[in-house]
This record gives sequence, C-alpha cells and structure tokens, in this order.
Amino acid sequence: MIYEDTEITDYEEIFETRQTKILKDSSVLSPDYIPKKLIGRTKEILELAKVFKPIDYKGYPFNALVFGKTGSGKTVVTKFLLQKLMERLEATPSIMDHHLQCIYIQCKTNCTINGVLNEIIKHVDPANKMPRKGFALGYYYEELWNVIKEKNVSLVVVFDEIDRLKDDEILYNLSRAGEMQKLPERHFVCIIGISNDLDYGKELDSRVISSMSPKDHVFAPYNAEQIIMILNERVKIAFCDGVVPQETINLCAAYAAQDHGDARKAIKHLKMAAVYAEENDFFQVLPEHVEETLKSLDVDRIQDMAMYLPLHEKIVLLAILKLTNYGNPSTNSQTVTSLYNQMCFEIHKKPLHRTTIASKFGDFRMIGLIKTSSVRKGKGGGWKDIRLSVPSGSAIEEVLYMDYNLEMLRDFKPVPFSN
Ligand SMILES: Nc1ncnc2c1ncn2[C@@H]1O[C@H](COP(=O)(O)OP(=O)(O)OP(=O)(O)O)[C@@H](O)[C@H]1O
Ligand SMILES: [Mg+2]
Repeated sequence: MIYEDTEITDYEEIFETRQTKILKDSSVLSPDYIPKKLIGRTKEILELAKVFKPIDYKGYPFNALVFGKTGSGKTVVTKFLLQKLMERLEATPSIMDHHLQCIYIQCKTNCTINGVLNEIIKHVDPANKMPRKGFALGYYYEELWNVIKEKNVSLVVVFDEIDRLKDDEILYNLSRAGEMQKLPERHFVCIIGISNDLDYGKELDSRVISSMSPKDHVFAPYNAEQIIMILNERVKIAFCDGVVPQETINLCAAYAAQDHGDARKAIKHLKMAAVYAEENDFFQVLPEHVEETLKSLDVDRIQDMAMYLPLHEKIVLLAILKLTNYGNPSTNSQTVTSLYNQMCFEIHKKPLHRTTIASKFGDFRMIGLIKTSSVRKGKGGGWKDIRLSVPSGSAIEEVLYMDYNLEMLRDFKPVPFSN
C-alpha cells in the first residue's frame, strides 16, 4: 500500500489496541517455525532417518539429497529430524564417543565457498576470529579441520537450496575429509542437500557424486486433505478458540493444493486472512476474507515490492511484464534475458551476467511473482518457461515507471512484438 505522507497528530493511534482478538501466537505461522508434529511425512522422515542409522554402530552416516516442489516440507522435515537426532544423542550420550553438531546453511543467502566455510567454522567455534573474506580457500579448509579437531566434533551440514552454491568443490572436499585424513579418527562430516530442482543431482560433477554418493529422497506435493490437517494443527496453537471455521481452512487448502500442494502458501493465505479480519474488527476469519486478501494481496504486495527492488531486478521484472502484457500468457528465460539486455542498452546501464539474471527468476518465483516450469533442453541449452502469477501486470508496470531510470522505457516494445 502506498500511503500519502500526511502528518500523524495522535501517536497513540499508531498502537491502537483492537477490540477483537483473532491471533494468539502468530510466530507459529512463520515459515521458520518447526511444529511438534509433522503431517503426512512419516515415510519421508523414516527414510531420511536411515541416513543416520550407521551412527548406532559407530559407522559414518550417509550423505543425502532431498528434492521436492516448494512448500513440500523439505526444510521443515530435515530440521525436525535433526532436532530429534540431537535430542536422542543428548538422552543417550553413549551412542557417540564425541559430540555432534548440526549446521544449517541457507545457500540463497550464503553461496560462496569461503562464506560457507566461515559459517561452519564460526558455528563449531563461535570465538574464532577468521574473517569472512581475504584468505585463500586453503586457509579456510585448514581452519575448519583445526576447529573440528580442537572441539572434537563431527558435523551434519545441511545445505538448503544447494543448487545456489557457487561451486560444488566444497561438497567434494567435505565428503572426502575423512578419507583425506583431515578429521580425527571415527569423526565425520555428513552432508544433506535440499533443492527443488530435481535435475540438480544430474548436473553435479561426477567426482562430487562419486565422493558424496548421496541417497536421493523425493518429497511428493501435499494433497488438499494433508494441507487441511497441517492447517488444523497450526490453527489450534496460532489462533484463539473458535475464530477459524473449518470452511476457511478448507478454502486455504484448496487454493494451495491447486498451487502444486504448497503448504507454505496455505499457511500464508490463512495468516493474511487473519490479519484482514483483525484489522477490520471481525470476530472470525471467514472464507470471504481469504478471497478478499487473495484479490488485493497480489497487486498491492507486488506493487510495494516492485517499488523497492534494486534497479537491475526492476529491469528484469519489466522485461517479464512487457513480454507477458503483449497478449502472450507466458515467455521464457532466454527471451526475458535478451529483452533485459536490450533495455539496459537503451538506458545506458551495463547488463548483469546471464547467470545472475537466471538467479533472479528463482527469487521472483519464491516471492510468488512468477511461475516457472521445468528446464527444457534445446539446442542452445536449457531454459525456463515463465508465467506471471499476478493478475494485473500493467499496475505493476506503472510502479516501475516511477523509477526515473525506467521512465523512458514506457514506450519500449520487445523487438519480436514491435510494429
Ligand atoms: N508435514 C508438515 N506438517 C506441518 N507443517 C508443515 C509440513 N510440511 C510443511 N509444513 C509447513 O509448510 C511451510 C513450508 O514448508 P518447508 O519450508 O519445509 O517447504 P520446502 O519444501 O522447504 O519449500 P522450499 O522449496 O520453497 O524451500 C513451513 O511453514 C512448514 O512449517
Ligand atoms: Mg525449504
């Protein structure tokens, strides 16, 4: 929402307390929350738990890759399982003769090798002074082997969104650490990679595959029933009693099930509807509140977001909008990149590298702006089909033209569609 900058006269009004009470604990609806109970993932949990089975007989755990569409529970299942593993080791310390540490790396925010090594080092030894940058990679590895020895630990390292890692070499080096005698005897570094790109494993270097020998785990999307159960559990702890009727939950689940069974979306729909109900002083979160927020959510939220994007992301977004606003329901990553380059040229900006642009598609998909479908392998390599997920592209285009850099692109038409 874009507010006019009128003066606030009564500051008490900012924190005005509501008459109705809808939410009891909204932190439970945050994507980072790990529920006490997971729904519909028993098989996946049991299968993934087998990775750690060898620990019971003083062996080394396997490495694993977890695949599945967005919102299929990959991250939450992995974190849940590691929590259970740590609880088990705490309750029965005799299982291992040294400590185990689990480290979660989000490769979307930390994708360089020195950055990742530094994060692992700091996790094992929080007092370590190694800077994040400035040394050759070899130093970071040496420091890691040192801290592992000093602290006498084995590691489970989770690489979430592993496909964003800049270099696979780290997977090779970590998985071969024992064999290369970098670790104390009977110590290990176990790797769990998570990705929603099913082709990721196929793209890995054969050396990495052979040293990691990961077990693949594929999570199926949730169906509407499972999403309903997930929401029912969340509602019990997040909301005050009786404020969310079952029809509201069913509707959120139905929308999310249409959207390839994305549990995250279902929770988000419910949260948005709850905020709407609270702001409008309703006593319950009703199905029409879900409909209402879904309608306004997309355009409002995307407009806000578009306004504050960095310049080059704005240009990429504008390219997608132009290509989908000219009567075409979808476009593809190659055409978008080419139009992006043309527009950069037009406004005298140096275009970013193709691979950087490719990563923006993933970001736009994550924030629900576009839908991408699987990579096709053509003569010129692979590409993604891109479809806008929001109803009104032209409203978002208007916001982008508010940036003076982009103003002059208003009449710029994609070459293949120009008159
Ligand atoms: N089986 C489940 N039971 C309860 N909550 C779940 C379950 N699966 C997923 N969720 C919830 O749904 C949301 C999305 O799950 P999660 O983050 O694990 O998805 P993901 O597969 O890692 O998606 P992405 O690929 O986009 O990262 C989280 O809020 C999570 O708590
Ligand atoms: Mg995830």
